[in-house]
This record gives sequence, structure tokens and C-alpha cells, in this order.
Amino acid sequence: MKGCKYGTHRVIEPAGVLPQPASKINNDMNIYDNEILIDVSALNIDSASFTQIEEAAGHDVEKIKEMILSIVAEKGKMQNPVTGSGGMLIGTIEKIGSDLDGKIDLKVGDRIATLVSLSLTPLKIEKILDVKPDIDRVEIKGKAILFESGIYAVLPKDMSENLALAALDVAGAPAQAAKLVKPGESVVILGAAGKSGMMCCYEAKKRVGPTGNVIGIVRKESDIKKLMDAGFVHKAVVASAQMPVEVLNAVLAANDGKEVDIVINCVNIENTEMSSILPVRDGGTVYFFSMATSFTKAALGAEGVGKDVNMIIGNGYTKDHAAITLEELRESKELREIFEKQYM
Ligand SMILES: NC(=O)c1ccc[n+]([C@@H]2O[C@H](COP(=O)([O-])OP(=O)(O)OC[C@H]3O[C@@H](n4cnc5c(N)ncnc54)[C@H](OP(=O)(O)O)[C@@H]3O)[C@@H](O)[C@H]2O)c1
Repeated sequence: MKGCKYGTHRVIEPAGVLPQPASKINNDMNIYDNEILIDVSALNIDSASFTQIEEAAGHDVEKIKEMILSIVAEKGKMQNPVTGSGGMLIGTIEKIGSDLDGKIDLKVGDRIATLVSLSLTPLKIEKILDVKPDIDRVEIKGKAILFESGIYAVLPKDMSENLALAALDVAGAPAQAAKLVKPGESVVILGAAGKSGMMCCYEAKKRVGPTGNVIGIVRKESDIKKLMDAGFVHKAVVASAQMPVEVLNAVLAANDGKEVDIVINCVNIENTEMSSILPVRDGGTVYFFSMATSFTKAALGAEGVGKDVNMIIGNGYTKDHAAITLEELRESKELREIFEKQYM
């Protein structure tokens, strides 16, 4: 039997919604003809979700395990009821529904990372084997299901799974940067020394070529050295992303007094919309990758300062995002070293 390609056939309540906003989904592991069964080895819990669970559990690993097991038993998926967020998983393909046979580039036995959120993925945990709080990782024995519309990346053989996962977590950002940035352009990255920020800097610098200008905004002096030594930016400056005029002045000073073509927002805090909008020229582009972005603040804020700019919501998915992201780690020794040191 074939299910809905978006997984609505597994929604239990409330009726009529998609699996992500559903409060409960069916996690029966008998697959429909257009589903994929995964033998799961680890969950990479979303950082906001893991932090919330860890604090609620008083940093007690046994309590963390209990909370995770109870969420999955209740909802049929690992969706934190407080943050609403999920994460991603890694596992091995166990079975491919007959309807998908030959239509996808996967075979039984492939190691994959799912790139759709755990907040919509049917999951059954048999046992939690280990919890690794430093990297928000939970090793389990369990199964999960990927819907026909679900995206995934086959884990590469030339790097460790942990390294690939760390980068795939923010895969939308560098891939979107690759599409937006053109030769000769000037680009600002807010949160430039963070995980997605560094990947965007690297990609933007590659795309603008010798006549462009990539400016990283950071909040610690030491991050200027980190970005410049690695060669990820042309210039790096300290400014608070919550102070729009400070950011504007810093950008103008670093770009010959001119507004820039593109701003990419990779910070992890609220109230940074205007710091992203003010430095962009009319007709330029602001790409909000940060999940802390407010649509209202961005829309009203741009109107309020009379800026006719294109604003892009940071869709976590853009075509070929996994391939573009993993390729960065192969191309740049510096990026790979920093990721291996900081995120594994
Ligand atoms: N759209 C999507 O699909 C998607 C997917 C994954 C993640 N995200 C979002 O992307 C954002 C970044 O994720 P990430 O993993 O790259 O985070 P990250 O590694 O924590 O980086 C965030 C960066 O922002 C900097 N920052 C914080 N406050 C600042 C301020 N006032 N001024 C200047 N810089 C500041 C941080 O600097 P310090 O180190 O000094 O604090 C850090 O370098 C998050 O909001 C996350 O939720 C979106």
C-alpha cells in the first residue's frame, strides 16, 4: 500500500495536519510501499532541544534517557514538546518500499543521515545505549521511517561520521550562499565565526573571486584572527549584531563607504534583523539563516527605513545542499581542521 508522500497517512492527531506539527504520529515500523526503513544508530538532537532536556533533567544522564524515551513513546517521534524542535539521525538502510525501488540512489546497507527533522520522523527506540552531552548525541538501538519526500545524505567514506554530521547540521546556509553570491560582489556575514557563519564566509569568498569583498562580523577580537588566519574573509570586524548602527558603520568602513550587495545572518540570538537590513544596498539581498529571525521585525523594519531589499527566509533545504557542504570540508584544510577541533 502507498502512503502520502509527505507522511500524512501516519498522523494520528490532530487530523488533517502534516507530521511535523502533529502531536502524535504512528510509529509502527511496518513500512508502506513508498517509505524507507532505517536501522538507527544515533540521534543528533537539536541544540535548543537537548539543552532544554538536559536542564530539565538536572544534567542527570539517566533522567535525560527517561525523558527522551517518554517523548518518543508519547508522540511517535523525537519532538521536544517545549522547543518544538527535533534534530537528525544516522543509521543504515534496512528496507526500501517496493514503490521506490530503482527511483532513488539508495540501497539496503547504505549509511545515511536524514536531513528532515526528527520532529516529523516516525521513530521507535528499543534501547538508549549512550548519551553524549558534549555533542548533543544519543546512541540508540531503534528504527525510523523516511517518507517519500524525506531528504537524506549518504554518509561519505572519506571523513568521519561525526565531522559530516556537524557540517550537514547547517547544510542549507553554505549552499544558499553558493547560489546567491556572484563574482565581484560585497558580502557581510553576521555571526561569521560560528558554524554556519564560517561555512558561508568560505563559500562567499570563493564565489566573489578576486574583485569581491567578504566582511565577517564577530563579537570577539580573537575571532578576527581566527577568520583572517584561515583566509575565510577579506576583512573581519567586531560589532554586536544587536546594534544596527554600529554594524552599519563597521560595514561602511570596511567597504569603501558603500552599502553591500548581500548580508547573510548566521547568529543565534534575537533582534538582529535591522543589523542585517541596514548595511544592504537598495535591490540587494538579506538571507536570514538564523532561526531567531522575526518575520514581523524584518518586514516592518525594512519598510521603516525605506529599504527595497530582497529578504530570504533560511529554508534548511536547497538543492544539492549536502553535496556543497561536504565538498567545503574536502576543499578547505583550514575549515576541516577547525570543525574537527570545535565540533567533534
Ligand atoms: N535555517 C535553518 O534551516 C537552520 C538550520 C540550522 C541552524 N539554523 C540556525 O542558524 C543559526 C546559527 O547556527 P550555528 O550552528 O552556526 O550557530 P553557532 O555556531 O552558535 O554560531 C552563532 C554565532 O553567532 C555569534 N553571535 C551571537 N551573538 C552575537 C552578537 N550579539 N553579535 C555578533 N555575533 C553574535 C556567536 O558568537 P559567540 O561564539 O561569540 O557567541 C556565534 O559565532 C542558529 O540561529 C540556528 O538556529 C538554521
